[in-house]
Amino acid sequence: MVKRNTCIFISGKGSNLNNLIEKSRNYNFPINIKLVICDNKKALGLLYAKKNSIPFLLINTKIRSFERKILFNLKRYNISLICLAGYMKILSKNFLRASGLKIINIHPSLLPKFKGLNTFSRVLKSKEIKTGCTVHYVNEKLDGGKIITKKSFFVNENDNVTTLKDKTQKLEYLAFPEAIIKIFRNISF
Ligand code: GRF
Repeated sequence: MVKRNTCIFISGKGSNLNNLIEKSRNYNFPINIKLVICDNKKALGLLYAKKNSIPFLLINTKIRSFERKILFNLKRYNISLICLAGYMKILSKNFLRASGLKIINIHPSLLPKFKGLNTFSRVLKSKEIKTGCTVHYVNEKLDGGKIITKKSFFVNENDNVTTLKDKTQKLEYLAFPEAIIKIFRNISF
C-alpha cells in the first residue's frame, strides 16, 4: 500500500501522536508520519517523535514568518495530510488556503456541542447524558468543519473532569485512526 505522508501538530502530552505512530506501523494503515510540528518546547509529546526518529520542527508562533516556515517544511516532506492532535493554536485563513492540504482535528466533545476550550467542565455543568470525541476537517470556523467520525459514552453521576477526560481520550485512540482510514478509503493511490 502507498501510504500518505502525514504531519502531526501537537502542543502537549502527545498521547494521540503516540497512538497514531503505533497504528501507522501497520502495513495496511494509510499514513506514514513523516513530520511532527510543535509550538511548545516543553511538550512531552516531542519525546515520542525523538524516540521514533521522526523529524520534528519546533515553531515559535510569536515570529511572524512561522507559518511560512511550516509551509516550507510541509513541502519538503511531501506532506498530504495534517492531523491536529492537541495543537492549541488556531491556524490562519491564509495558512489553510496556502497549504491546500487535508487538515483534520480531534476535539474532546460531541460537536457541534461544546466547541472551544474547557469542554469537560461545560459538559458536567450542562448535565449532558452523553459526551465523547469528534474528528473533523479544519476550516476557518473554530471546531466547525465537516465531521468525519464521532464516538460517545454515557456520563455517570460520579464523573468529574478527570474521569471524563480519561474516558474521552480512550475513545480518541479509536476515533482518530478510524477517521484517517475513512478519509482515504475511497481514494485510489
Ligand atoms: C485531546 O484530548 C484532544 O481532544 C484535544 O487535545 C487533547 C490532546 O491530547 N484536542 P494528547 O496531547 O494527544 O494526549
